[in-house]
Amino acid sequence: MVTRRAFLRSTGAAGAATLTAFTNQAHARLSAAGALGGGREAAELATDESYWREIQQAFTLDRTIINLNNGGCCPSPRVVHETLKRYLDLSNQAPVYHMWQILEPNIESVRRRLAAAFGCGTEELAITRNASEALQIAQLGIDLKAGDEVVTTNQDYGRMLDTWDQRARRNGIVLKKVSFPVPPASLDVLAERLLAAITPATKVLHFCHITNLTGQIFPVKRICDEARRRGIQTIVDGAHAFAQFPFRLEDLGCDYYGTSLHKWLLAPIGTGFLYVRRERIPALWPLTPANEARKSDIRKFEEIGTHPAANHNAIAEALTFHEGIGSERKAARLRYLRNRWADRLKTQARIRLHTNLDPAHSCAIGTVQITGVPTPKVVSRLWDRWRIIATPIVHAEYEGVRVTPNVYTTLDEVDTFAAAMEEIVKKGAE
Ligand SMILES: Cc1ncc(COP(=O)(O)O)c(C=O)c1O
Repeated sequence: MVTRRAFLRSTGAAGAATLTAFTNQAHARLSAAGALGGGREAAELATDESYWREIQQAFTLDRTIINLNNGGCCPSPRVVHETLKRYLDLSNQAPVYHMWQILEPNIESVRRRLAAAFGCGTEELAITRNASEALQIAQLGIDLKAGDEVVTTNQDYGRMLDTWDQRARRNGIVLKKVSFPVPPASLDVLAERLLAAITPATKVLHFCHITNLTGQIFPVKRICDEARRRGIQTIVDGAHAFAQFPFRLEDLGCDYYGTSLHKWLLAPIGTGFLYVRRERIPALWPLTPANEARKSDIRKFEEIGTHPAANHNAIAEALTFHEGIGSERKAARLRYLRNRWADRLKTQARIRLHTNLDPAHSCAIGTVQITGVPTPKVVSRLWDRWRIIATPIVHAEYEGVRVTPNVYTTLDEVDTFAAAMEEIVKKGAE
């Protein structure tokens, strides 16, 4: 068997030269940005276009469209995408060797780095294919019996609500979905609504760290600490939170946390993670069964059969890109971009913001309605006339256009969106 070191030697200088040619431009962009950024504060750097121009150029985008749906999934920076392709090419030489023996063991480096970034133990983090998988492991893996209650909100993610609905149909659990005001006047309202729904039968509380509908951030720690005091397990849906704004596990206090990494971390599509509090691991059933010997091993949640190693290993490169900018700086820039359109539009008649702009309540995501014009028509008009991609949110209690810029979004793109909305206000969406 060829050792890893011998293999690396055998790929030799030619391979190294090709790799350098592939990636050095993107690295150069990030390091140029780093030099421009220096040690400056996040708030100051947020408005420095020379810094962000370097970041914008680190992506291979289609600038004939304005992509303001980064809440769905995001393009990776060139350096990440090239790493993914490189790992795929390597895997394809002899997958049983190159993928299973060379690449797959290095998932442990990814686990270690993700755990360090999130603030949990390495043995508490499973790498998944997305937030849905991560959350469903928790939702379907906790032992619950008929009559046990799960409390969530009616603004949680549809697939996660469907998952609980299925458990209600299958196992007879009771699902309670609480409503909350949009936007809420205070974070207290959110905690109060969830905690008020608890009864002696409540076993699980499930809610978003930040909602996908309006970008509302929840007071997670306050809710989780109280739930824990009452012996209730907490599942936090962090699909949009990780790498959008800075936080650590100690700021949350939950039992289970699921996130996607193809959203704000800009990792390859098909990546996410699940955090499970160490003492909860043995009792949580994996979605894809594992040998009993692995009962207490976080890796039991990764028994998904044959899968590409390229995707999860390229997370490491996305983390490096993310850390190159820095969480604080990224969040400050995202808020700056969001405020640029929201502050301009909010003063206008017939514009309703469903997102509270206070940084404690929100970050990149904002949802805005033009009253009197159906939201799907606004979204179609944005696309047809300006090639702007935004997301229509139509909830039973409100509706609006969800706008999610990213670090690569230019001020001109944001301004084009704001001007387009102003024109729709004036002339309608027909
Ligand atoms: C709040 C929330 N939870 C879960 C998910 C599921 O994420 P994924 O499709 O990456 O599994 C999403 C996706 O947009 C989401 O917005």
